[in-house]
Amino acid sequence: MHAFVHSPLPGRVVFGAGSLQQLSAEIVAMGCTRALVLCTPEQYALAQRVSELLGDKSVGIFDRAVMHVPLETAQQARALAQELGADCAVAVGGGSTTGLGKAIALESGLPILAIPTTYAGSEMTPIYGITENGLKKTGRDARVLPRTVIYDPELSYSLPVDLSVTSAINAIAHAAEGLYAVDGNPIIDLMAVEGIAALGRAIPRLTLEAQDPSARNDALYGAWLCGSVLGQVGMALHHKLCHTLGGSFNLPHAQTHTVVLPHALAYNASAAPRAMQRIQSALGVPGTVSAAQAVYDLAHDNGAPTSLRELGLQEHDLHKALEIALQNQYPNPRPLMREPLLALLQDALEGRRPH
Ligand SMILES: NC(=O)c1ccc[n+]([C@@H]2O[C@H](COP(=O)([O-])OP(=O)(O)OC[C@H]3O[C@@H](n4cnc5c(N)ncnc54)[C@H](O)[C@@H]3O)[C@@H](O)[C@H]2O)c1
Repeated sequence: MHAFVHSPLPGRVVFGAGSLQQLSAEIVAMGCTRALVLCTPEQYALAQRVSELLGDKSVGIFDRAVMHVPLETAQQARALAQELGADCAVAVGGGSTTGLGKAIALESGLPILAIPTTYAGSEMTPIYGITENGLKKTGRDARVLPRTVIYDPELSYSLPVDLSVTSAINAIAHAAEGLYAVDGNPIIDLMAVEGIAALGRAIPRLTLEAQDPSARNDALYGAWLCGSVLGQVGMALHHKLCHTLGGSFNLPHAQTHTVVLPHALAYNASAAPRAMQRIQSALGVPGTVSAAQAVYDLAHDNGAPTSLRELGLQEHDLHKALEIALQNQYPNPRPLMREPLLALLQDALEGRRPH
């Protein structure tokens, strides 16, 4: 075993069906009494339920969370938090809502309690993103890491099956890249393999029955582990490509991850054989099926998109995407090379099963 550094992040996790009922006690445990509840417009009813559970510890609801955290939205939410004298934010929803909580915390230091309802994993990371004039800036700051996370699988019953599948594969992507991260370590590997296995088990069952309690439990457990990996080690080619495609061509987040992951894994396979082996065994596929093929099949067989074309990308966008992806060199098991990367993007555009 190589020498390594493991630097776990602080944060309290409350996990289990019905754990939303512990919200009020968790707010008190954070030393807070005045929570501003954050949500997207689509999840207002859930935010209302959360606010009712908080009773007099809720000072209001801000229901304008949207994808990519526009600066103006963050400013409005921050101003409302200040006006209402909030001493914490409760972010109930997916990565977009957690992201809004982070944008508030970044400036104000307001502690966050996150209640994730997708598998994106943002609640376990100190990574924030804010979009100003169409450009998304991302960074890391300890202040934005949620203080407490309540994982209640019952809240994900309503997540549509298609988004459940792509969100789960989005989570698998964090763990897959964690397995070949330059700053990875054996503890990260354990979490990554366990997370991929839990999500791999859950996805086909969710496709059959969206409200299968045990499948929702597995999926959220896997999402927690994969989010923890994302929060603790650096990501590589796959995340860079998805960031580029999402930001520059406005492609949907979870779906883009789902389409690109098999191709990013195929690109890195020869340079990270141990990681690939672990992904194969976590997904329980025979040795004749590569890690890249296993992820592709998981998406394809469960009705998820497999091509960037389906998501709206066009042939002539590929070269722009390639140039952006090549702009900054970043750690990746296999060096970034123009022709092979273009081939990767072409395969992803057409949705070809990796060789
Ligand atoms: N900073 C990080 O570490 C990090 C990590 C992962 C994702 N993200 C960010 O998160 C965003 C994507 O998050 P996402 O994929 O969770 O999507 P999202 O938060 O944008 O949610 C997508 C839609 O699904 C709805 N929804 C969420 N949960 C639901 C449920 N249980 N039932 C019904 N509807 C539900 C939301 O209201 C929204 O309309 C991106 O902007 C991405 O960059 C950040």
